[in-house]
Amino acid sequence: MNYKSELNANKVFPILSKTADNLGLECYVVGGWVRDLLLGRPSEDIDVVVVGSGIEMAEAFAKELGRGAYIAVFRNFGTAQVRKGKIDVEFVGARKESYHRESRKPIVEDGTLADDQCRRDFTVNAMAICLNSSRYGELVDPFNGVEDLQSGIIRTPLDPDITFSDDPLRMMRAIRFATRLGFSILSDTYGAIRRNVERMDIISSERTAEELNKIMRTATPSRGLMLMDGCGLLDKVLPEIAAMKGVQKYNERAHKDIFAHTLKVLQGVADRSDDLWLRYAALFHDVGKPKTKQWDETHGWIFYNHNFVGMKMLTPIFRRLHLPLGEELKFVKKMVDLHMRPINLCDEGVTDSAIRRLLFDAGDDIDKLMILCESDITSANREKVERFANNYQLLRLKLKEIEEKDRIRNFQPPVDGIEIMRMFNIPPCATIGELKTAVKDAILDGVIPNEHDAARDFVIARAAELNLKPAENLDSTIN
Ligand code: CTP
Repeated sequence: MNYKSELNANKVFPILSKTADNLGLECYVVGGWVRDLLLGRPSEDIDVVVVGSGIEMAEAFAKELGRGAYIAVFRNFGTAQVRKGKIDVEFVGARKESYHRESRKPIVEDGTLADDQCRRDFTVNAMAICLNSSRYGELVDPFNGVEDLQSGIIRTPLDPDITFSDDPLRMMRAIRFATRLGFSILSDTYGAIRRNVERMDIISSERTAEELNKIMRTATPSRGLMLMDGCGLLDKVLPEIAAMKGVQKYNERAHKDIFAHTLKVLQGVADRSDDLWLRYAALFHDVGKPKTKQWDETHGWIFYNHNFVGMKMLTPIFRRLHLPLGEELKFVKKMVDLHMRPINLCDEGVTDSAIRRLLFDAGDDIDKLMILCESDITSANREKVERFANNYQLLRLKLKEIEEKDRIRNFQPPVDGIEIMRMFNIPPCATIGELKTAVKDAILDGVIPNEHDAARDFVIARAAELNLKPAENLDSTIN
């Protein structure tokens, strides 16, 4: 099979071809670009392997591209990257690699294309297409990557124990590609992951997290987590999630498997939303359950306060995994903390005030919280699922109605601290905070509308109870 016309569809390849011929260097496009071409998923990132100096080739290519081309050279690694507009090409010299057990950093020697293909992670990522004019478009596929692509198989070109021990991050990559492409991991390759799981210790948490994020972003993250579980990577990377596995029985009554439930919730969220952090919220929503599990004579299995306990577990988990500790963590915490609230508001008799409080606590994340809660219904009982779904639909209507009326999502106190100081001619003090909280509670409880004048009158009345006298020029103190 020749891929000349596919190469020519991208203006970069004829330029690369000319550059390589001029330098007399053997040159190939390799790896992910070739894989994605054969899968019919065009990609922009091009990896080029050169039998000789990748840096020399990169410099000549950048010159050929002319003005606006930008080159970054990494001499230590013998690699270079050239960019211009949408063009992004990475160059490397073909190499042989050998590894020390303690490190991911290989000892590198110059090699042939065949040496280079052997050192790659999977057969489907080890295919190359020649760019020199004499063999332009010729596929070089020594490990039958095409066949594996057609059969949907992830396997290593060499003995998998060597491939994974050399670079243990490839174990996470195997899960990622299998999940993203809907492929199976060959049992020999999967078994080698199980044998080499401990080698993950030499991988930095940042790189592990990067792969985990990629698995979480696929269309089927639940399958990724299941694959991680089957080979021991889950215990290694996410022990708190692995701890959710299993079912305990007491008096013949078993609770449901929290891990299996979590995977369903995660998939439910992934089917409804691309938001990575909402997906993490689904993954962690019940992480507090193993720690809070108790048998109660009246209620059976209970997980008292598991949302709060789960929320508290998140900072150490995010820190260990090097996941971001700012807004993203705050959001996941909020979702885990609040995930039980909507279900309790589905009652007929629920008050507007309870709904306002949920709107206040969830703020602009209310819609995401509802997606999480709707996905949290995983019962096998169809009638029950339908009932919950209807209840949630009604709750969504109520949330909309009250939000339109009271505008609680982005709550800003209608009377602020400065206005209160002026109204009573007082310096900053705790009383101001108390008055502001009283105003907020009065609005959420429906005692007063969310409006400035009503809030001001309320403050004056409440301040009188505290023996605070209004300033003489009260009328001119409006903010
Ligand atoms: N590679 C490898 N081992 C790794 C990382 C990468 O053997 N740990 C090789 C593979 O041949 C891979 C190529 O380097 O195809 C490029 O790697 P990368 O850009 O990380 O992945 P892609 O395969 O291009 O896939 P994607 O861009 O979708 O991540």
